[in-house]
Amino acid sequence: ADALKIGIAGLGTVGASLVRIVQERHEMLATTCGRAIEIAAVAARDRNKDRGVDLSVAGWFEDPVALASEAEIDVFVELMGGSGDPAYSAVKAALQRGIHVVTANKALLAAHGVELAGIAEERGALLNYEAAVAGGIPVIKALRESMTGNTISRVYGIMNGTCNYILTQMEKEGLSFETCLKEAQRLGYAEADPAFDIEGNDTAHKLSILTSLAFGTAIAADDIYLEGITNISIEDIQAAADLGYRIKLLGVAQRTESGIEQRVHPTMVPYDSVIAQVDGVTNAVAIESDILGELLMVGPGAGGNATASAVLGDIADIAKSRPGAQHVPAFGRPVTALLPYKRARMQ
Ligand code: NAP
Ligand code: HSE
Repeated sequence: ADALKIGIAGLGTVGASLVRIVQERHEMLATTCGRAIEIAAVAARDRNKDRGVDLSVAGWFEDPVALASEAEIDVFVELMGGSGDPAYSAVKAALQRGIHVVTANKALLAAHGVELAGIAEERGALLNYEAAVAGGIPVIKALRESMTGNTISRVYGIMNGTCNYILTQMEKEGLSFETCLKEAQRLGYAEADPAFDIEGNDTAHKLSILTSLAFGTAIAADDIYLEGITNISIEDIQAAADLGYRIKLLGVAQRTESGIEQRVHPTMVPYDSVIAQVDGVTNAVAIESDILGELLMVGPGAGGNATASAVLGDIADIAKSRPGAQHVPAFGRPVTALLPYKRARMQ
């Protein structure tokens, strides 16, 4: 079969890891996917930056929207970030051409996910985004595909590696909030603007996506009670420990009699619970449902390799798909079948 041609916009922490893995594992991927994966085109801001990878065989685009609109590719991989342009226009342009899209951009999906999924459905393209929630943990596939038929009552967990890394390092190493945040940035865990991490917005973006998948509703990213970790001190962490608790930034979405409740806030969790033991950049997502029961998934939540692994899984799914086959809708059901979001009444 012909090689699957991909165009990658964004060559930072995740994009550069993806390029390296695709190049180093070229033969293995060709065997497992039944066709080679070829990086046909790339885009980033600075052409002269050394990214530690060989980009000589890929076409260079100054403008990611031009890459998405004009390049000869089968898949557009968006790894720039941000809910607005150029990510929004580039993804839209690719989908409008019927080109499949893979993205790790939860901010974009929280803001425009339903619109983009609608275009994907109309044009017969796939919109895959496993890496957008909880890094390398395959939670999107679990909710969207493996748990089809379950009625889900609650989804919750640790969904931001930067915050969990900061809280863990403050507790275990006694380091200041600022020192831990700088280290999380150095390790490639944080968003380009780390306020999105520490103020809870990134967890809220991810939660809004999980809510839609779990409850079959339109995304409602603005209807989330939001509190980040900027006010948590080492004294708070120690006081919680003295009482037998650890502080974790949780995202929680649950079905109630009056509607759906979504919240993000620091939470005291009992020391002997599994979630309390999830340390560092690791994430954990729990899903409570009627047929399966409780599923808890724990794994790497951020970082170049962990995230690129999920992006690559999405690309491989496209490489293996048969032309003309029915696609799994981006949010688990056709956009026209998404239920209106109804918020829970406050107690
Ligand atoms: P990053 O290191 O900041 O890289 C962003 C890349 O996008 C850079 O290569 C940058 O170009 C390029 N870019 C930004 N604005 C651009 C523009 N206007 N035109 C062209 N190129 C542009 O970000 P990252 O950490 O790899 O994250 C990428 C995406 O993955 C984001 O949506 C993020 O939320 C998501 N994500 C990240 C992680 C993680 O652990 N890092 C995990 C899960 C999901 P230059 O290099 O030339 O500046
Ligand atoms: N900044 C995000 C985090 C990246 O720390 O979890 C993964 O989505």
